[in-house]
Amino acid sequence: MSELEPERIVRLEEEGPRVVLLDQRRLPDEEVDLVCTTAVEVAEAIRTLAVRGAPAIGIAAAYGLALAALRGEDLAEAERELASSRPTAVNLFWALAQMRVDPTPDRARALHREEVDRCRRMSAHAVVLFGSGTRALTHCNAGGLATGGYGSAVGALRAAWERGLLVSVLVDETRPLLQGARLTAWELETVGIPHAVIADSAAGSLMARGEVDLVVTGADRIAANGDTANKIGTYSLAVLAAHHDIPFYIVAPSSTVDLATATGAEIPIEERDGAEISTRFAARNPAFDVTPAELIAAIVTEGGVHRPPYAESLARVRARA
Ligand code: MRU
Repeated sequence: MSELEPERIVRLEEEGPRVVLLDQRRLPDEEVDLVCTTAVEVAEAIRTLAVRGAPAIGIAAAYGLALAALRGEDLAEAERELASSRPTAVNLFWALAQMRVDPTPDRARALHREEVDRCRRMSAHAVVLFGSGTRALTHCNAGGLATGGYGSAVGALRAAWERGLLVSVLVDETRPLLQGARLTAWELETVGIPHAVIADSAAGSLMARGEVDLVVTGADRIAANGDTANKIGTYSLAVLAAHHDIPFYIVAPSSTVDLATATGAEIPIEERDGAEISTRFAARNPAFDVTPAELIAAIVTEGGVHRPPYAESLARVRARA
């Protein structure tokens, strides 16, 4: 099997015009395209998780706005639709702001290329965090599907694997929609990295048994002080990692850093439909949680490895982006 090209994950076709997405809801069983012919349909694809993962959501929204421009749609209305699709991943709002100045297919494609390039650079930086023989644990999906190509946390795992530093990866299945079991495991299989899916609740006991050397995840929004929102369950992992003296790392592009949000307390947390958890009983379904900066041993961006306190170096990398 070979890895997915960025254009296979999401692209804009000017013939049509249309945005074509690899429907992540159907993976790993089927590789099926979802075709969107309006910005409203792209927003719906984001809302319903046909495309998911912070950078990929931003890229899809950029293509959605370019699609609206090609079709002569009202751009302010298209932007409102896209911006209302999901609240937590800041890349969505970042990408729409970038596109406002130049809502063309070329700009959207450049934004896509730049995100993938950031992933490759941050992954190369992240390898210094891996010792020889590392057994890693990851949560959710932060691979190429979630970033438009290559991956953030999974990119770091790939770079460490290629350098012979990584031995194996424990993959949290990741409640509620099992992105870890469905998407991360599939991506690791594709690039040939040994892995095992575990129930999220097994992480603590495997740490206690000495089977985890580090934890690495992506991020959906990093506040100015380094507090980080990521898929629900990430905070519990960080607490467990601290208890077992295991380093907990975040790998994410500078487009995920939100200097306008001072701390994690201000990050909007999406509450999804309880039916994703239980159709029989009342259910709560917060989709993200916030890991306080003090539990994060390093944040890796395309600018390098940031160590606490994070405020200054995150501000610097954001200014350079
Ligand atoms: O709700 P999702 O599936 O869009 O969640 C995003 C994620 O997969 C993660 O939280 C991820 O670790 C950060 S995005 C690379």
